[in-house]
Amino acid sequence: MAVNTASPPDIDLTDLNRFVDGFPYEVFARLRREAPVWWHPPTGHTPGGEGFWVVSRYRDVLAAAADTAAFSSDGTAVRDGGGTLLEDLPPGLAPGTLLNMTDPPRHAKFRRLFQGSVAPRALAAIAGDLADRAAEIVGAAVERGECDFLVDVAAELPLQAVAQLLGVPQEDRHRLMGWANATLDYADRDLGQMSEISERAAAEMYAYGSELLERKRADPGDDLLSVAATATIDGEPLTPMEQQMVFSLLIAAGSETTRNAVAGGMLALAERPGTWRELARDRALLGPAIEEILRWTSPTPYNRRTATAATEISGTAVRAGEKVTLWWASANRDPAVFTDPDSFDVRRSPNQHLAFGRGPHFCLGAGLARMEMRVVFEALLDRVGEFAVTGPVERVRSNKHTGIRHLPMRLEPRRART
Ligand code: HEM
Repeated sequence: MAVNTASPPDIDLTDLNRFVDGFPYEVFARLRREAPVWWHPPTGHTPGGEGFWVVSRYRDVLAAAADTAAFSSDGTAVRDGGGTLLEDLPPGLAPGTLLNMTDPPRHAKFRRLFQGSVAPRALAAIAGDLADRAAEIVGAAVERGECDFLVDVAAELPLQAVAQLLGVPQEDRHRLMGWANATLDYADRDLGQMSEISERAAAEMYAYGSELLERKRADPGDDLLSVAATATIDGEPLTPMEQQMVFSLLIAAGSETTRNAVAGGMLALAERPGTWRELARDRALLGPAIEEILRWTSPTPYNRRTATAATEISGTAVRAGEKVTLWWASANRDPAVFTDPDSFDVRRSPNQHLAFGRGPHFCLGAGLARMEMRVVFEALLDRVGEFAVTGPVERVRSNKHTGIRHLPMRLEPRRART
């Protein structure tokens, strides 16, 4: 039986400075090889001063994500906090209240309320509108020539889409992005800490959400927030906190992740101009390219669970109440599943990546995210010929979101064929 508690001394996954140059794939290659179920001892950066399990192999991540009885997204009676972040969140605030931090059977009932809003039929109805928006966003950036690709292109469509999905007035979308950035960003704080900026943003977002929910309750539309404001589970309406959490979750999940996939994909293509030209020539490659971009960028690198009882993962004993982190980003580079995992291959097939997670909590917005990526890359391939990164890439200082804050680029218009 593997012990896997030896601590590779130089690994600290809670030191966010180790994430400022991008996700540390080489660290995870070592963990998959030497300690695939590794007990991360607490360091000076670790929230709560408490160690946690790091699960890095594809098959172990998959098995734990599927087993919601053994690995809870909410929490357990044997500890006070829970949730899907490494830092414990107080029960009732997010765990047990936020859709992705609930367990069966309530989770399935909760999730069912929103499935219709992101089902293929609902997405087909907005496809044309999203394509028009993407064309406009990309057209404006190409016309200017120089842009911050993250802010001007990658962030815009997901933000417009989520505003529409939730029924948030479009003119407010940049305020929402500012709040989401401030609450998700660890630029000025460490794990488990709030800063003045993040606290103020959370309070403003809460006040905005409450007021909007109030309006939806009084005058419901066909948007997702109206569903949250008016739906019932087992005859009971969602609590005000649950409704509020739907708002916060979707703003965060809907805007932060997709933009990082788009920007990270564009960065990968900037380094591979031949692949860009191939995609421009053969659009049939775009579908597999989007899956490869998702695998390659893995914008959500991990989610946490809490062991509900004594159990084991691939022969390693885990005690009740211990934190278990499932690293999707590491699973996505596991050589046991992906041939040549560290190469970016837009023809990769099969490509069963875990960028959207797996099991009952599989990303609710996966279809929407894929559609957004498709229409943005279609618009880019239609309009952009040559392009280049023109300045330093600023990344997000976080181990929870692998992303980019600023990506200076020059986009040159595609010349019409003569
Ligand atoms: C490239 C973009 C995206 C990535 C990489 C991503 C990633 C993920 C992952 C890994 C999970 C699983 C969490 C867990 O198991 O604990 C998840 C869940 C979720 N995602 Fe996404 N996501 C993306 C886009 C979106 C969008 C656009 C939306 C909504 C508009 C969304 C809404 C959600 C929701 C509501 C859940 C919770 C589902 C549940 O617990 O049943 N995501 N996402």
